[in-house]
Amino acid sequence: MAAGALSKPQLDGVERIIAVASGKGGVGKSTTAVNLAVALALKCKLRVGLLDADVYGPSIPLLMNLSGQPKIDSANKMIPLENYGVKCMSMGFLMEKDAPVVWRGPMVMSALEKLTRGVSWGKLDIMVVDMPPGTGDAQISVSQRLKLAGAVIVSTPQDIALLDARRGTNMFQKVHVPILGLIENMSYFICPGCGQSSHIFGHGGCETTAKEMQIDFLGKVPLDVHIRETSDEGKPIVASSANSDVAAVYNSIATRIVDKMRELASAGAYVTPNISVG
Ligand SMILES: *[C@@H]1O[C@H](CO)[C@@H](O)[C@H](O)[C@H]1NC(C)=O
Ligand SMILES: *[C@@H]1O[C@H](CO)[C@@H](O)[C@H](O)[C@H]1NC(C)=O
Repeated sequence: MAAGALSKPQLDGVERIIAVASGKGGVGKSTTAVNLAVALALKCKLRVGLLDADVYGPSIPLLMNLSGQPKIDSANKMIPLENYGVKCMSMGFLMEKDAPVVWRGPMVMSALEKLTRGVSWGKLDIMVVDMPPGTGDAQISVSQRLKLAGAVIVSTPQDIALLDARRGTNMFQKVHVPILGLIENMSYFICPGCGQSSHIFGHGGCETTAKEMQIDFLGKVPLDVHIRETSDEGKPIVASSANSDVAAVYNSIATRIVDKMRELASAGAYVTPNISVG
């Protein structure tokens, strides 16, 4: 890793910023970002922020059951909305409902500026960023602006999604953001009647790809109808069914991410001291 490529994020009080990304949309990126953020807060006991950088289709307000305009503090900064122990900021709080917005590159950057430096985040151990889907210039500028300490890639096991996951991984590596690992979403289906799991999209796709790319495979999140229902109601499964198998997967992924950041820190990848909690 290039020395000095990673330095403290230029956001006062924020220790580390990690991205949850996917090569393409519709693979469960936002659901994963939300559940990881809640797991980092509730399970790992960290001070967590969640930034919805998916300005094209902000879904954090719905997934976190948050709405309304943020209040402004005396320093003229927006106060993040909070639920499940996570401080959240999203363009969705600032836009008129259903108002069409045509985003151009510079507008995305100024929106991002507003959602980061224009917010009174307080002290955070970690900020999770729900990235816009894709691997283009917008994603590269977001990565560089935020000085990401790592990225998690979400994919489904289908070939096309995996190809995009590779593209996403390459993009982050090109801008010297360490890949914390790959998460497989929708890998097997737990039959609600019999409790048997069956692989409906082939077997081992993400794990094999991770091995080939020499990145960590962080875990498989089962396709559980419950996740969809609870997500759409604004109840992340990590909080609403804390004892479920699915919550256990997210909790273990969150713990591994914290461990990996510690390893990276002790290997000297970061200029700032370690995350000390957990
Ligand atoms: C996986 O992706 C699908 C499609 O976006 C989504 O509906 C589902 O909730 C995701 N599952 C998880 C566990 O995030
Ligand atoms: C969402 O938040 C509202 C207002 O705080 C609350 O009344 C409602 O019960 C919440 N819904 C869920 C699913 O937690």
